[in-house]
Amino acid sequence: MSERFSSSAKGLFKAVVSSNKQIGERFCRLKLEFSGEAAKLFANFRPGQFAELDLCGTALPSAENIPEDLIDAAERNILLRRPFSFSDVTVDRDKVFAEVLYCVVGPATLRMTTLSSGDSVSVIGPLGNGFRIPSDKKTALLVAGGMGVPPLLHLAKVLTADFRATMIEVIAFAGAKTEKELPFKGQLDEISQQLGFSIPEFAGYGIESRLATDDGSAGYHGFVTDCLVEWLGQANDLAAKDTVIYSCGPEAMLARVAEIAEYKKIDCQVSMERVMACGIGLCQSCAVECKVNGSNETVYKMCCKDGPVFDSKEVIF
Ligand SMILES: Cc1cc2nc3c(=O)[nH]c(=O)nc-3n(C[C@H](O)[C@H](O)[C@H](O)COP(=O)(O)OP(=O)(O)OC[C@H]3O[C@@H](n4cnc5c(N)ncnc54)[C@H](O)[C@@H]3O)c2cc1C
Ligand code: FES
Repeated sequence: MSERFSSSAKGLFKAVVSSNKQIGERFCRLKLEFSGEAAKLFANFRPGQFAELDLCGTALPSAENIPEDLIDAAERNILLRRPFSFSDVTVDRDKVFAEVLYCVVGPATLRMTTLSSGDSVSVIGPLGNGFRIPSDKKTALLVAGGMGVPPLLHLAKVLTADFRATMIEVIAFAGAKTEKELPFKGQLDEISQQLGFSIPEFAGYGIESRLATDDGSAGYHGFVTDCLVEWLGQANDLAAKDTVIYSCGPEAMLARVAEIAEYKKIDCQVSMERVMACGIGLCQSCAVECKVNGSNETVYKMCCKDGPVFDSKEVIF
């Protein structure tokens, strides 16, 4: 038995910005407030699902606030909505607050930085299928690369709140090229780090975590997948059949996580990223090549509608 986190109920809504705070050179947290019908639907927004935000009417930052490498991109028209997962969802009576943890990479996310309290944003959602939480698993390993962190933070909260009784242990692994590219506020003190509670955002849910950077500027020196392999090598008591891996990040990293999971015979779910034009299965722009069970044939599934979360054994990387 497992709970598939999805819902066909979705809509086009206005969300109101509660806050929009910069937490690092390129990272911000945008808090959106939903009320009325939207609150009813977004109260059931599950980790791994996403929403499409319309940012084309949002102003660009002033010239001095545009990073040099984005000056040309800033001027590009943004006709399409952009997909974002939520890093946190909180229900407060008849309102729902959803947090978008975002990285400024182009014209839409640059515009997002100018949103301020009271502004309204057009949102389509909830969209897609989120992570499944099988009831027979005792350990969940969350593996994030770069901007793969947000849906796994949301999952961490749900696993430790709603599934505390069944899921005994949750451990998070987060990696990036360098410390600057990790979307966190900071690191815990040395003692907390030695105990394995290195990332405050996960420590807040009582979850052990490991940081990895390719250049060794923070945590484990190397790929987050190597950090996972090392951890698995030391986890002698870990029963593969009781364990599940959840992963989100760049495709090369997901491919390696899928390989590790297969080798270790651990169930694994990966959240795939594609450029998404419509977000609702109409435009066919987000194809993911998948295996057909019991045959050598493959089929293209839509990341926005059939995913973004897939069983890792299903995906052809
Ligand atoms: C399901 C889903 C959930 C997402 N959740 C988050 C989130 O929580 N936080 C966050 O910061 N970002 C998230 N993203 C990525 C986000 O949608 C893009 O960063 C955003 O669309 C960039 O828009 P832009 O106009 O600023 O930059 P663009 O100019 O559109 O893109 C900048 C660069 O990023 C690449 N890029 C953009 N979108 C994607 C994509 N979907 N897959 C691969 N490469 C891409 C482009 O090719 C380009 O090189 C998510 C994407 C998906 C599909
Ligand atoms: S984004 Fe249009 S079909 Fe997936």
